[in-house]
Amino acid sequence: MSETHLYPVSEETAKAAWVDNAKYLEMYEKSVSDPEGFWAEHGKRIDWMKPFTQVKDVTFTVPGVSIKWFHDGTLNASVNCLDRHLETRGDQTAIIWEGDDPADDAHITYRDLYIRTCKLANALRAKGVKKGDRVCIYMPMIPEAAVAMLACARIGAIHSVVFGGFSPDSLAGRIQDSECCAVITADEGLRGGRKVPLKANTDKALETCPSVSTVLVVRRTGGDVAMKDGRDVWYHEAVEGQPETCEPEEMNAEDPLFILYTSGSTGKPKGVLHSTGGYMVYTSMTHQYVFDYKDGEVYWCTADVGWVTGHSYIVYGPLANGAVTLMFEGVPNYPTTSRFWEVCDKHKVSIFYTAPTAIRALMRDGEEPVKKTSRASLRLLGSVGEPINPEAWEWYHRVVGEHRCPIVDTWWQTETGGILITPLPGATDLKPGSATRPFFGVKPLIVDSEGGPLEGACEGNLCIAESWPGQMRTVYGDHARFEQTYFSTYKGLYFTGDGCRRDADGYYWITGRVDDVINVSGHRMGTAEVESALVAHSKVAEAAVVGYPHDIKGQGIYAYVTLVAGEEPTEELRKELVQWVRKEIGPIASPDVIQWAPGLPKTRSGKIMRRILRKIAENDFGALGDTSTLADPGVVDDLIDNRPAT
Ligand code: WTA
Repeated sequence: MSETHLYPVSEETAKAAWVDNAKYLEMYEKSVSDPEGFWAEHGKRIDWMKPFTQVKDVTFTVPGVSIKWFHDGTLNASVNCLDRHLETRGDQTAIIWEGDDPADDAHITYRDLYIRTCKLANALRAKGVKKGDRVCIYMPMIPEAAVAMLACARIGAIHSVVFGGFSPDSLAGRIQDSECCAVITADEGLRGGRKVPLKANTDKALETCPSVSTVLVVRRTGGDVAMKDGRDVWYHEAVEGQPETCEPEEMNAEDPLFILYTSGSTGKPKGVLHSTGGYMVYTSMTHQYVFDYKDGEVYWCTADVGWVTGHSYIVYGPLANGAVTLMFEGVPNYPTTSRFWEVCDKHKVSIFYTAPTAIRALMRDGEEPVKKTSRASLRLLGSVGEPINPEAWEWYHRVVGEHRCPIVDTWWQTETGGILITPLPGATDLKPGSATRPFFGVKPLIVDSEGGPLEGACEGNLCIAESWPGQMRTVYGDHARFEQTYFSTYKGLYFTGDGCRRDADGYYWITGRVDDVINVSGHRMGTAEVESALVAHSKVAEAAVVGYPHDIKGQGIYAYVTLVAGEEPTEELRKELVQWVRKEIGPIASPDVIQWAPGLPKTRSGKIMRRILRKIAENDFGALGDTSTLADPGVVDDLIDNRPAT
C-alpha cells in the first residue's frame, strides 16, 4: 500500500479550533484512562431534568449484554433541541430549508421550530399517542420531518423513520416489526423534479399493518391522494388550533428515543434502538468537535433524515448545539450539477458534509460546474458512509475546498449513533482515504480472524473494546439477535463488521465490510435481502448476490440468477427482474448486473461459495482459490465464460 501525502493542520486552523493536537491527546488520554470522570464532566453538556449520579454500567459479555449510560438521570431530547435555546437564540435560524426547486426555501427560527413541534406533539397526544408508542415517519426532506421527530421525542413516543425511497413492502415490514400506531407522511415527495408517491405507498403498506390507527399527511405537492375516513388526517388540520406549548415527557436517560432499521448480513433489517441521554450527549459533542462548530455558522449535511446521518447530524446533534442546520430536499444534479455549490453560496455555508458517492458522481462532470461558483464561505468539508478513495478525496480538497478546507472523513455506523473514528480539524494531520484517529472515549481494536488482538501496524477486523454513550442498546424486540450479531464473534468486544488497517502512525483505514453487507452509494444493503426479493419472483429458482467495484457507487449489486426449469433467460426478463427488485425493496436495491447462472458453485453440502462469486463479479479470475471442494467445478468455468461486460 503506497503511503500517501500528508496534509498538516495549518497553524491558523489549530489556533481557531476547539481542540488542537495537544488538547486532543490530553482529552483522549483522559477519556480512555478515566471514562467515568471524563463522561461525568461531558455528560453535563446537555440539560437534565434530574441530573445523573451514575455514569456508566456496561457489560459486553454474552449472554447478558447490557449498556447503560447516565441511567439515573432524566431529560427530554426535544427540550435540549428547542426550549433551552429560546432565551438566548429564539430568533436565530434553526433550520434553513432549501427546496428541490431552487426558488423554494425557508428560514425557521428556534422559536418557530419550538411552536411547530409543540403543536404537533399536542396533536399526536390528542390522537392518543403516548410515551413508549412507536410512530413511523415516512417523509420527504421537508421541515415537518424534523418537527415530527422532535414532536415524538417531546411526548416520549419512539420514532421510526423510514427512508422515502423504500417500497410499500419495505415500509410495511418496518411498521409491522415495531407495531407502530401512527404514520406521519406527505402526499408526495419531490426529488430532482420527480414526484414520489409517499401517501399511495403508505396506503399500500397499511393493507397489512393493522396496528396503525392514525395517518397524518403533510400537503407538500398538492397531488391528488386518497384519504381514508377515520384514519387519515391532513397534518395542517391536525395541528390547527393546538396550543403553542406542550409539557415535555420526563424521560429516563435509558428510555428509547428512536428505532432505525438497517441491513445486516442475514435476515430482514434490524430495528437498531437508541436511547435518550447518551445519544444526546454523544451526538452533540461529536457535532461540536468533529465539525469544530462555532455559534452562528451555517452547517449543511446532505444526508436524508431516513438514514442515521440525518438523525444525528441534521437534527439531534446540531439542534442540541443551537446550530444553523441546512436541510435539502433535492439532489446534487438538479437542475444542474452546480447545485450543491450554488446552495453553499446562496446560504453562506461554512461546513459541508456529504458522501463519497456524490463527490465521485460530480467529479465525472469536471471542474467547471464547481469553479463557476464562489464557495468562499466554506471552511470545512466532511465525508461519510463509505471509504473515500484518495482520488475523490484529493479532488474534493483541491477543487471544492481550494486547498483551504480540511476534510473530516468520519467513520461510524447506524449502530454507533455518532462518529467514532475521524480527524478533528484543528488537531489531526490528514491522509487522503484515512478516517485517522478515534474520537474521545473510543477504543478501537483490530483483531485477527481468531479474535486475537493485533498490535502496531496491522490489518484485520475492527472491534471497539469499550462502550461509548451513543452506542445502540438493543435490536428492537430481539435482544438475542443484538448479542449474536455484535458481541458473539469476538468475546467481550463490539464487532463492527468492517475490515480495517492501522498504519505505523496509528491511523485507521477502513477497508470495507467483511460480512455479506454491501455498501451501494453509501447505503447499506444486505445481499440476503436482494436474494430473497429475487427468489420471490415466480420464474427465479435461486439467486446469489454479491458486491463488485463500481466507479460511482463504490459497490454495485451483482446478482447470479438461476431460472426455474423451462424459463428462457431473455433481455425482457432481465429488465423485469430489475424492476421487480425495485418494487420489492426500493430503487436503491436495483441490481446493476444480472448474470444467468445455470448452476451456482456449491460445496458438496450445498453451501454457495460466495468467495468465488465475488471474484468472478470483480473480474478477478486468477484468484479463485481452491475449487476442488465444489460439487460441480464445471459450473465455475461456465460462469466465467458467460460473465457479462460491466
Ligand atoms: C461504512 C453510516 C469507510 C462502513 C454512518 C460502516 C465507512 C457502514 C465510513 C455503516 C467511512 C461509514 N469510511 N467506511 N468514513 N462511514 N462507512 O449504518 O462499512 O449506513 O460499517 O452508517 O458504512 O453504514 P450506516
